[in-house]
Amino acid sequence: MLGIETSCDETAAAVVLRKGPHHGKILSNVVRAQLDAHAAFGGVVPEIAARAHVEVLDKVVAQAMREAEATWDDLDGIAATAGPGLLGGVLVGLMTAKAIASARRLPFVAVNHLEAHALTPGLTDGLAPPYLLLLVSGGHTQLLIVRDLGDYDRLGTTLDDALGEAFDKTAKLLGLPYPGGPEVEACAATGDVNRFDLPRPLAGRAAPDFSFAGLKTALRRQAEQLGPLSKQDIADLCASFQQAVGDVVVDRTGVAMALFEDRVPAGNGRNLVVAGGVAANSVLRARLAQLCEERGFALHVPPVALCTDNGAMVAWAGAERFARGLTDGFDFPARARWPLDPDAAPKIGAGVKA
Ligand code: KG4
Ligand code: ZN
Repeated sequence: MLGIETSCDETAAAVVLRKGPHHGKILSNVVRAQLDAHAAFGGVVPEIAARAHVEVLDKVVAQAMREAEATWDDLDGIAATAGPGLLGGVLVGLMTAKAIASARRLPFVAVNHLEAHALTPGLTDGLAPPYLLLLVSGGHTQLLIVRDLGDYDRLGTTLDDALGEAFDKTAKLLGLPYPGGPEVEACAATGDVNRFDLPRPLAGRAAPDFSFAGLKTALRRQAEQLGPLSKQDIADLCASFQQAVGDVVVDRTGVAMALFEDRVPAGNGRNLVVAGGVAANSVLRARLAQLCEERGFALHVPPVALCTDNGAMVAWAGAERFARGLTDGFDFPARARWPLDPDAAPKIGAGVKA
């Protein structure tokens, strides 16, 4: 299965061989990031992203096929992210996949980007559902029960910013480069986690939702009161921010664990998977490892390259769907919004992120 991913700022293509349920092999995985193109703006600019996908996607696909030593005849299908994401970019990958599938008379599979993240532990860890998933990236922040392919309970979501976005905005505010997550983490390492008193939004609430807008505003106020920031001020602000985020994530995930225990019979195991770019944060990982130990869950964090956006997860989700006889027509539309759990109540403010 060839998988194509263009829903945000990574142009990616990969070839994955499915050997059985929760058992696959990555034959190639090519990711071309557009960081330089967006760095000057401190975030992803949709129009620039779409143009960049057009410019490089053909080459990225060719490289993925070459590295996999695959010909078109070796493929059993073509999968592409059809949403949720930035429509201009999604269209580029989707049309390319449909065009190849049409020309080569191959089945086409439309993949939900969130489902691709959600099913990745099958590919990386051989992990079978059900498991609890914490998806934290620049575009999404959700807690989900992954019951089966196509079957998800969304337990919680952000009501405003995604967590990666909160890291990026904090970095921008403090004059650190984009993407901000790794910068904030690095600065926080030499900072005082207790110097600034920042809020823990929604901590203690019954539903495991997230909110980061208030935290960002509180941080801005503290920074403005200090005037010109010294290196130590920045480190202390980063450390205090990361501490607040850690407290919130542990609190919210703890609530989701209780819901998982209520809804999933005990014989199915207790596994927490953390995916998305923010899963690269080692402080957050350590906090979650401690939580898992306290609560009797096993922690799974896919390798960073498969946690962040990539083509292998799309190829894998496509292969899992194809194995169940699920393919799609060429009229399948690009979707800006495509929730994994259509029954979950919409949350005002979350927009496409829910
Ligand atoms: O999954 P990803 O590559 O793309 C999206 O789908 O958004 O996630 C990128 C996000 C960015 O917001 C980036 O700042 C954040 O992940 N990130 C981190 C770290 N590394 C990347 N956030 C916190 N700590 C990190 N070490
Ligand atoms: Zn993603």
